[in-house]
Amino acid sequence: MCYIIRMKKIAIVGFGFMGRMHYGNWKRISGAKVVAICDANLAQLHNVSGGNIAGADASTDFTGVAIYDDVGKMLAAGGFDAVDVTLPTPLHPEVAIAALKAGCHVFCEKPMALDVASCDRMLAATKRAGKVLLVGQCLRFWPEYVALKAMIDSGKYGKVVAADFSRSTPPPDGKGTHGWFLDEKKSGGCLLDMHIHDADMVRFLFGPPKGADAVTHRHASGLLDHAQIRYAYPDKVVTATVSWAVSKTLGFEASFRVMFEGATAVFDTKRAETFMVYPQKGKPFAPKVSARNGYEAELRYFLDMVRGRPVKPVLTARDARDAVALVKSLA
Ligand SMILES: NC(=O)c1ccc[n+]([C@@H]2O[C@H](COP(=O)([O-])OP(=O)(O)OC[C@H]3O[C@@H](n4cnc5c(N)ncnc54)[C@H](O)[C@@H]3O)[C@@H](O)[C@H]2O)c1
Repeated sequence: MCYIIRMKKIAIVGFGFMGRMHYGNWKRISGAKVVAICDANLAQLHNVSGGNIAGADASTDFTGVAIYDDVGKMLAAGGFDAVDVTLPTPLHPEVAIAALKAGCHVFCEKPMALDVASCDRMLAATKRAGKVLLVGQCLRFWPEYVALKAMIDSGKYGKVVAADFSRSTPPPDGKGTHGWFLDEKKSGGCLLDMHIHDADMVRFLFGPPKGADAVTHRHASGLLDHAQIRYAYPDKVVTATVSWAVSKTLGFEASFRVMFEGATAVFDTKRAETFMVYPQKGKPFAPKVSARNGYEAELRYFLDMVRGRPVKPVLTARDARDAVALVKSLA
């Protein structure tokens, strides 16, 4: 028997760092095609600079892609199955809800929204529309974090005694379209914008914590630019650091160090060997992980959901909402 799988058509809204990143990843996914791009500033289609992770698409040839500078006009014109929202965070709820109302499935970048009430409106809209809504909590798909989750679930190295997560990057430069990151009312500062990744991962790995608190620092401008966070669990110590206060010369860095009873797992983007396991007995080794980056893996997962294919329960929009709630409880 032969099945014909219809290509799913994708529209990207917001063509800054993440829009371009998603564009490159969609190109690697057979069964989906970007047919429309919308950015309020069309010069962005030719801006190939920036980003904290290599891999953003560098093309400026958009032959066959409908280009819009207004999301309302794009939704009215239609011609796509799903909208990929890679806009500044304050715009996530309204655009996601409008796209769902227009009958589209929605993939929305993290954080889902700036407050829990807006997340709840998005959840209500996806239910009303009967369309998929997924949020880009990409760590759940990032190879080393996928391996860590498998290591914990397998029990191979016993229980987790302690875990520490870190994520830091120099302060947003505010250049080009990036001014909104420096306004905490728009980005949520480094806690909501960056720590949301590790907060979501902590929930995914260990379940909801019994409590959480943070010590924070604010830049002279008032922007929350550094925090140290503790998550309360009865049987383990879980901590995290997030920073927008590191020097430009250090650049982006993400890491975890997880102490099991029988081994220590270490991931650090700045190490020569980024991911290592050090067993209590036996030789340290670098576990084999998927070569597929987390952005591509999360978009493939979304596509499977859109197609109604059975997916392993890795991530729901409700999880993304709960991560926002957890981070909002910190400061
Ligand atoms: N998952 C990750 O690892 C990751 C990494 C970086 C950013 N993000 C998230 O992705 C989102 C976008 O961040 P970014 O770094 O790409 O920002 P950006 O400023 O680089 O890009 C935003 C784009 O949206 C466009 N835009 C603004 N208002 C618009 C409107 N009304 N209509 C159409 N276009 C509009 C801007 O012109 C710009 O091109 C944010 O929510 C951010 O937190 C996620």
